[in-house]
Order: sequence, then structure tokens, then C-alpha cells
Amino acid sequence: MRVKPRCTPALLLFLLAAGNTLLATAFFIPERPSTNATARRSLFFPSAFNEADQRFPISPPHQFIKAGPNDHRGPCPGLNSLANHGFISRTGVDTFLNIINASNQVYRMGIGASAAAAILGLFGGNLLDPTLPISIGEPPNNVGLTGILGGILAPPSGLTNTHNQFECDASLTRCDLYICNDSHTLQPKYLQALLDLYTADSKITNSVALVSKHHANRIADSIANNGLFFFGPVQMIVGAFTALQAPSLFANYSAEHPEGFMSVEGLMSIYGAARSPNGTLTWTRGSERIPDKYYRRPGALLDQWDLPILLPQVLEMWALYPETLSLGGNLGEPNTFFPLDLGAFTRGAYSLDDLRQPGGVNLVCFVYQLVQIVFPDLLGNVNDLLAGVLTEVGQLTDGVLGTFVCPRTMGSVDMAMLDKYPGWVKSKTKKGIL
Ligand code: HEM
Repeated sequence: MRVKPRCTPALLLFLLAAGNTLLATAFFIPERPSTNATARRSLFFPSAFNEADQRFPISPPHQFIKAGPNDHRGPCPGLNSLANHGFISRTGVDTFLNIINASNQVYRMGIGASAAAAILGLFGGNLLDPTLPISIGEPPNNVGLTGILGGILAPPSGLTNTHNQFECDASLTRCDLYICNDSHTLQPKYLQALLDLYTADSKITNSVALVSKHHANRIADSIANNGLFFFGPVQMIVGAFTALQAPSLFANYSAEHPEGFMSVEGLMSIYGAARSPNGTLTWTRGSERIPDKYYRRPGALLDQWDLPILLPQVLEMWALYPETLSLGGNLGEPNTFFPLDLGAFTRGAYSLDDLRQPGGVNLVCFVYQLVQIVFPDLLGNVNDLLAGVLTEVGQLTDGVLGTFVCPRTMGSVDMAMLDKYPGWVKSKTKKGIL
């Protein structure tokens, strides 16, 4: 597969994010002294706390209402909570832009990061509707052939059914699809395992490290139990990205903890979990709830959760728990993990060590080039639509393009190398993907 010399909207977004990252990390990130002597995290030094901006009022029409049986809910607790509060449609089906906007406004997920997630979400979306609606859960009702299936139109699947396109194995709280035949329902035992890590560290010294450890444990569990475990380059990066959302976006950025504090209660609330009288953790579909006293991240561009923050977090995760870089998959039986040789896959352009290099330039370039190679083929038929809606996001690409040249060039990847992984082949055969 060769790189096509055209610039798609998806590419522009990644360029934007990459440009922001490089500008910010290399040149512009200000040295902000921590306002808290007992800073929990070394990587994020937010702007001064701003009560008026960060206090997020949860009042009508955004009060919590548990989702009804006909509302769509899926594998993402963030989006489920946005729908349960009406920040996106309570039906769970909303447009590409509204999903990006709400993620940005409520949780301060950066526009680059949320747009990148929403673009992946289009695998489950309705590509013939110009507003690009996406169901955050099950397939929407009464919609004809409007999704994408290996370039062929098919019913939109909803995020729930995007296995190995977006939804992937070893999620923080969801089961692997080919173990449970369900990868969207929260499994209390996995959330409990995460909470146990929190309670074992009463000071919660570094919530990124805690979640990274949990992510590493979940990968080990998948290797040990899921013969069809698959963790290709896309899945490895999506897995890290979604895992890091929990400590970064669910944390409360109050005056007391301006760098963010992820309490057990806060985590349970946004995950929609509760304690039964006997102390066991329970979960009910549609109950993800933003805590009443929630302070979101500060609003300055460099405080939002975008690549300048997310990238060092990924590198920290990989440095602390190299198992989270378990690129490859099982060969049909548990414990048959076979690594994917990234060097061979990228035809010599990148090794795993290259991706881990400090600064993250190689990682950004790898993701950007992978998108260049993979997305034009996948989303080729929606590029015009995407271009239309993305102009509404703002002049995202202004002044960013052309500021940076990747030190390495990846012209193509050897997709056939993935065919040794039955978990990949099964999802590919079923849906026609990547
Ligand atoms: C454009 C917006 C977004 C899209 C399309 C999206 C989609 C998804 C998808 C498909 C997953 C499943 C990944 C997997 O299988 O591991 C996921 C997981 C996750 N998302 Fe989102 N998401 C978005 C925004 C957010 C936001 C704003 C938050 C936080 C406030 C969030 C938090 C999470 C977390 C913590 C997980 C891991 C769930 C778990 O397994 O415990 N997401 N997201």
C-alpha cells in the first residue's frame, strides 16, 4: 500500500495535532510552577485555577437522567456520560461535530484529540448523512445502508460494533469481544481491579502510573485468556489513548487539586458504578454520571487534553510498563503471544524503540504517517463530507502545516503480516476493515 500524495481532512487534523505538539513541546510550553507543593503529577502544570471557568454546572437541562432502553450507550464511559447529561443527544446518536464539541466543552479533551477519536468513530457512523451522525452504542434504528464495510456501504454499526477498528481488546473495564461476545458492558471485576490499585496507594501519587499499571495487567490478562487477542499498531495506540482518558479527563481539577485528582468516588460515578449493600461493585447500563461538584480542566489550549499533554503521558506509560507496548497478538490459543516486528511491518521506517524516544516526535510522525497510509483508503468516500464539517470546527490548520518535517518517512506498511493473527483475521473477515 503506497502513500497517496493528497492531504485528507483526517490528515489535516493529525498534522494540526502534530504541529501543536511539536510547537508546544519543543518551543512554547511555558514553565509553569506548580501551585501545589504536593504535586501528584510531574507532567502537567496547569494555568491558575479559575473557579468561574472550571466549575461545571450540572443543572437543567443537563441534569443526569438514566438512559432508557431505547437510548444507545456503548463502550465509552465519557460519551455515555455526555449523553446521560444531554450534552450530546440523550438518544446516544449525535453528529460528528456535536460529539467533538461536547467532549471539548465538558471534559476539555482537546479539539485535535477529540476530532481524531471522532474520525475513528466514523467507522460506526452514518457516512451518507452530511452531518455524519454516530451512534455511541448499538446500531441506530431504522437506518439503511449507510455505514462502511471495507469500502462497501453497509448499515452503520455504532461504536459498539467497531471491534479492531476503534473498540479494541484489553480495555480498562470492558471484556475482550471474543471472550465475552460483548465488549461494551462494564465488567465490575475490572473496575474493581483498577479501584484496588487506587486504594492501595492512599496518596494516589500518580494516577497516570496507576492506570498504566492496570492497562498492563489487562493486556497480560488478555494474553493469558483470549486466544484471539490482537494488539496491532492501531489497537496499541488506541488502547493507550483511551486508558489515559480516565485519569486525565475524569479527574477533578478543583482549587484544592489544580493538577487534577481522580478520586475513587469520582471514577465510580463517571463509570456508572455503585456499591451494593454487601460491598460488591455493580453497574447498570446508562448510569454514567458526572459528579455534582465537578471542576473540569482549565480551558487554555495547552491545558486541554491534547497531544502536548497526552504524548508525554503515553511515553510515561510505555516507560513505566513496557508490557503496554505488547505489539502483536495471540495465535489462536491463550498464551501464544507472537510479537509483531514493527520494523518489518513499517518496512524499516520505525522500530518500537523509535516510538519510545523522548519528545515523542517519532510517535507523532508514526501515527501521522500510519493515518496517511490507512485512512485515505478507508475513508476515501467521506473526505469531502469531512472537509465540509471540519471547516466548521474552525480554522484548525492555520499556521500549523509546513512547520515540521518528520525525521523518518514510512511510505507503506506490510498489512499481510497481520494475517497471522486470527483475532485480526476474524474481525477483518466479519467487517472488512483496515
Ligand atoms: C470524540 C469523542 C470520543 C469517542 C469517539 C470515543 C470513543 C471511545 C471508544 C470506541 C472506546 C472503546 C475503546 C476500547 O475498546 O478500549 C472508548 C473508551 C474510552 N473512552 Fe472514549 N471516546 C470519546 C471521547 C471520550 C471522552 C471525552 C472521554 C472522557 C471524558 C472518554 C473516555 C474513555 C475511557 C476512559 C475509555 C476506556 C473505557 C474502559 O474500557 O474502561 N472518551 N472511547
